[in-house]
Amino acid sequence: MTERAITVFIYLPGETVAVPAGIFTHSSESGIGSFAYGRRYIERKNALPVDPVALSLGVLPQPVATNGGLYGAFRDAAPDYWGRLVISVDMGAPPEAISEADYLLAANATRAGNLDFRMSPQDPEPGLKPPHFSSLPNIMDAAEKIESGGKVEQHLFQLLRQGSSMGGARPKCTVEWEDGLWIAKFPAKGDSLNIPRIEYATMTLAGRCGIRIPEVRVVSVGDKDVFLIRRFDRKKSGDAWLRHGFLSALSLMQWDERDRVRWDYPAIADTMRRHMTAEDIRELFRRMIFNILVRNTDDHPRNHGFLTDGGKISLSPAYDIVPAPARAGVGTDFHLAMSVGDQGRQATLKNALTRAARFCISNEEASDMVEQLQTIVCNWREHFEAHGVSIRESDMLTPSFDRPKSL
Ligand SMILES: Nc1ncnc2c1ncn2[C@@H]1O[C@H](COP(=O)(O)OP(=O)(O)OP(=O)(O)O)[C@@H](O)[C@H]1O
Ligand SMILES: [Mg+2]
Repeated sequence: MTERAITVFIYLPGETVAVPAGIFTHSSESGIGSFAYGRRYIERKNALPVDPVALSLGVLPQPVATNGGLYGAFRDAAPDYWGRLVISVDMGAPPEAISEADYLLAANATRAGNLDFRMSPQDPEPGLKPPHFSSLPNIMDAAEKIESGGKVEQHLFQLLRQGSSMGGARPKCTVEWEDGLWIAKFPAKGDSLNIPRIEYATMTLAGRCGIRIPEVRVVSVGDKDVFLIRRFDRKKSGDAWLRHGFLSALSLMQWDERDRVRWDYPAIADTMRRHMTAEDIRELFRRMIFNILVRNTDDHPRNHGFLTDGGKISLSPAYDIVPAPARAGVGTDFHLAMSVGDQGRQATLKNALTRAARFCISNEEASDMVEQLQTIVCNWREHFEAHGVSIRESDMLTPSFDRPKSL
């Protein structure tokens, strides 16, 4: 069966039960998807687009062939490498043998954003709830076994499965803790550095630089550190959760994951100008500068996000900012994942300053911002050590903070 029809549900603002919005038809053979809104949904007074960029209400939806035939918001609600691995273990099939439609259906209540995908319009709310923070030791044990291809006891596997519908490649699980949902990010097999601790230090450094970050924590489980970041797309309401819509920059721009030559910060800023405030656009500029200063080269367009709230789109808090390791003595030049300025992806402040106007920022303001961020980031070592990064690891990270000669 290559063609599948899936019901797309949406959690409308203020509601904790999703309503069916339309039917998504996907062919795994042609890699083309198409969506049609349901008549009853369209007639609702509070109807919202399921993807505010690709599927505006009142416009005849066009079929989609990018990203495996998934509209951006649908792709953002599907798992990536890690979530797919967990689902493939559950299904007992290799990850590449499972179709996009099956991944969409298999992801559960912890998926990103405000959409859900079910077999039929009558299907009930997903039963599986995210596991509690107190289960982290068991969940991490299960994640480690999955990474190394080991066998996991069924009840432990289920805990991990319940929380593993988010995107991203690293091992992680959504857990309930205090009054919120958090993504717990674990060490990965083969890490040579304490990445959870380093992500915690880098995110708090970003916060000091005036970048909006979610609440973040780090906890130790046995001899391992776990990074926790509060989910900005969920809010507790009684026993259930209210949800914000989520769109990655990849989806806002309707880019294809494989079409890397088009990825471009100033182009994102141009599109943002049509939907959001100058403040959000300036913050994107700030994040780009910060990525250069901390050598975060994994700043691909799915690592920038937007919240869709009612009819409005705004820049989400920042996430997934980690310095890439650099080797001492091999030069300091590097590239970001997206184009920055006149010199393309070249990660220099000089290059970043060439397109400041596109980010609603004057040359003078841009230079001031760069100077302010440089002053804070040059004390990164002190900040990292105060946030528990070991001296040995700070030593190993030092080449990542060396500035390219071209500024
Ligand atoms: N605080 C948050 N609240 C809601 N959603 C989030 C949050 N942080 C991350 N996300 C979503 O979860 C996805 C995975 O998170 P993250 O990027 O941190 O994982 P990763 O495995 O390190 O990713 P990558 O594969 O880019 O290295 C993101 O792409 C984004 O859609
Ligand atoms: Mg990521």
